[in-house]
Amino acid sequence: MSFTKQEIIDWLKEEDSNQLEQLWHMADAVRKQYVGDDVHLRGLIEVSNYCVRQCTYCGLRFDRNNLQRYRMTREEVIECAHEAVSFGYGTVVLQAGEDYGIKADWLGEIIREIKAATPLAVTLSMGERSLDELRQWRQDGADRYLLRFETSDPELYASIHPPLTKDHLSRIELLLKLREFGYEIGSGVMIGLPDQSYDILANDILLFRQLDLDMIGVGPYIPNDDTPLASVETALPQGQQVPNTELMVYKVIALTRLVCPEANIPSTTALASLNKAAGRENGLNRGANIVMPNVTPQKYREFYEIYPAKVCINEAAADCRYCIQGRIRNIDRGIGSGPGSRQNGVIAT
Ligand code: 5AD
Ligand code: FES
Repeated sequence: MSFTKQEIIDWLKEEDSNQLEQLWHMADAVRKQYVGDDVHLRGLIEVSNYCVRQCTYCGLRFDRNNLQRYRMTREEVIECAHEAVSFGYGTVVLQAGEDYGIKADWLGEIIREIKAATPLAVTLSMGERSLDELRQWRQDGADRYLLRFETSDPELYASIHPPLTKDHLSRIELLLKLREFGYEIGSGVMIGLPDQSYDILANDILLFRQLDLDMIGVGPYIPNDDTPLASVETALPQGQQVPNTELMVYKVIALTRLVCPEANIPSTTALASLNKAAGRENGLNRGANIVMPNVTPQKYREFYEIYPAKVCINEAAADCRYCIQGRIRNIDRGIGSGPGSRQNGVIAT
């Protein structure tokens, strides 16, 4: 479906519950038509919470010194991957802060071992690593790469992402490189960042389409008191600031599905953290088709604290498995098998 920027803005500002029901209904129908009823599960392994970057919103930022840091061992990562297989998951997502203690060869060997020993698709989410490293990991067998561009507005982006070096590629340039290397590419944004206007958020959604992303993850911005952005207030005039509410996240998920019908769209952990009872389910009923259950060993979970009150901090991987599978069954959706790669074209009419 094509939308003008003004139409997107109007939907983002819509408050009428009958109109919004229509939006959820349209998004759910398009989701069913293009990606079907199955919800694909991606086992999330939070490999390391070390990070060299200073993103002003993120609880893993380098300057945060009251956070205990950890890096999983190779054996632990491999064991988590096997556990994901035993739970029936088709993909593992290896995620970390931008951690140069994760050496290219170390991760490369892990990728090779997972690909040789299991049928899993491997998704990486390792931040802005060098082109050589990204190319190597693809050759090692990684299938997909997640790198959110966070906001399409260059000024807002610059204000929340101090660069590491002067001559770095932008995240959007990096995404294009990743696609060139043969990865499926995923990106996304946070919703409700201070100074994010409706105009900017509409541009974000249009950029999803322009990049023809294979995967699109969106979630609420959740202030973390141990980060500088938590004390920043919007400078936007009344009525222009996007709120970081659950409802706004649903609007963005639904519009993203309508604008990018073939994309794999997760109902995210950040959304579930805003509404633990029904956030995931509502996301799945309003355009999403993916969930990323956590398979990180229990002893590390509390330290991957990007934002406060994150769900599943005290759970074990098996708890999340049963929880998620039960939730999916309760909304009458199937559980996907296999890697659940990007679909091309309509699958059901
Ligand atoms: N609130 C919500 N999401 C956040 N992320 C980082 N910090 C926060 C926060 N405070 C998201 C970013 C990042 C992803 C891994 O987590 O979008 O890309
Ligand atoms: Fe982890 Fe529900 S998904 S407990």
